Order: sequence, then structure tokens, then C-alpha cells
Amino acid sequence: MRWVLASDHAAVDMRQALAVWLKDHGAVVTDLGPQTADSVDYPDKANELAAVILSHQADFGVLLCGTGIGVSIRANRYPGIRAALVHDTNTAHLARAHNNANVLCMGGRVLDIPTAIACLETFYTTDFEGGRHARRVEKLDKKPE
Ligand code: RB5
Repeated sequence: MRWVLASDHAAVDMRQALAVWLKDHGAVVTDLGPQTADSVDYPDKANELAAVILSHQADFGVLLCGTGIGVSIRANRYPGIRAALVHDTNTAHLARAHNNANVLCMGGRVLDIPTAIACLETFYTTDFEGGRHARRVEKLDKKPE
């Protein structure tokens, strides 16, 4: 599986740890940075990550900021991106199983790195259940009436 990661300055260490975990588990990883803690605007990083997924250069993404809130709001403006803000392994599991989420969002100032890795492992190993959830997921990208 091809994964793409991006963060703002508030989650550089977490992103780097998650990139290592993904490589260790056989993923092909594109890391969009940043590599330093210099301030960057989280919507810009969300835009970059969405472009990589929507152009089919990656299958899944990890998108981080201080809370995970800003990046998830921006990423979800793109039809085809299903970004889930996750806080624990239960929400990580349900994001894949029920929502077919393709972008895992977390907060570098909210979770510790071991918890973030546990969430990533659950997200990475959980398949979409389909069935009744497929109908609901199809409705996510429909234009509001
Ligand atoms: C940056 O200071 C912070 O606002 C950002 O990382 C994020 O938490 C926004 O949602």
C-alpha cells in the first residue's frame, strides 16, 4: 500500500514516528513534511496531501496538526477524501470499518506518540465492512440539496 503523510509544525515528531512505523510494516511512503518545526499553515499541508491521493499517487494518508481538527476540516472539502479525526483505537477501527476513511487525522498536541502508533496500526489493519455502510459512504460526496 502507498501512504502519504503530512503535518504542520505541531506534529513533526509524531509524523516522523508514524512514517517509520509504516515503512517498517511494508508501506511505500511519501512524506510531504515539514522536516523542521518552523511554522506552516495546516490548510496548505492538507491541500498537498489531498492532491497526492486524488491523483492516485497514494492509497491512504496520515494528516496531523496540533489537534487534528484543522487538517480534517480542510481535507474533507475535497470529494473523494474521507478524513477521520481519531483519538483512540476504537475510533480508528470504526473510521475504516464503517466510514471507509482514507485519511487518518490526529492531533500532535492531543495524543502521545505510542497512542498515535496504536491508532495507525488499527487503521492500517482494518478493512471497510461494506454492506449497509457502502450506501452511506456513497452519500458522503453527494452535493447538499
Ligand atoms: C497551530 O498552532 C494549530 O492551530 C494547528 O496545529 C491545529 O491545531 C489547527 O487545527
